[in-house]
Amino acid sequence: MEVYSVATFYSMRTLEKQGKFVIRVCVSLPCYLKGSREILEAIKKELNIEEYQTTADKKFTIKPVSCLGLCDIAPAIMINKEVYGNLTPQKVRDIIQKYKEAK
Ligand code: FES
Repeated sequence: MEVYSVATFYSMRTLEKQGKFVIRVCVSLPCYLKGSREILEAIKKELNIEEYQTTADKKFTIKPVSCLGLCDIAPAIMINKEVYGNLTPQKVRDIIQKYKEAK
């Protein structure tokens, strides 16, 4: 139990298999006030999965997370180590499209 609690304490760590691209969507207050809910919904709709799920092709996982330290560019997401901010639903759909086309 102690090992499990350590292994699952940080949101960047997980015991479950994740997609090639992990999309971390900040849902903390500053991002929420700037529209993170709409960003999350656009991502879910674009990938046809819910939070914490992985697409059938194992390419994408969506993870709502607390502040990414990018409040100055809220609403913000990270896809693996890449940062994206000042997002709109259309911008995030365009970003995901690029990742869909990536090998
Ligand atoms: S609240 Fe979203 S990055 Fe800080």
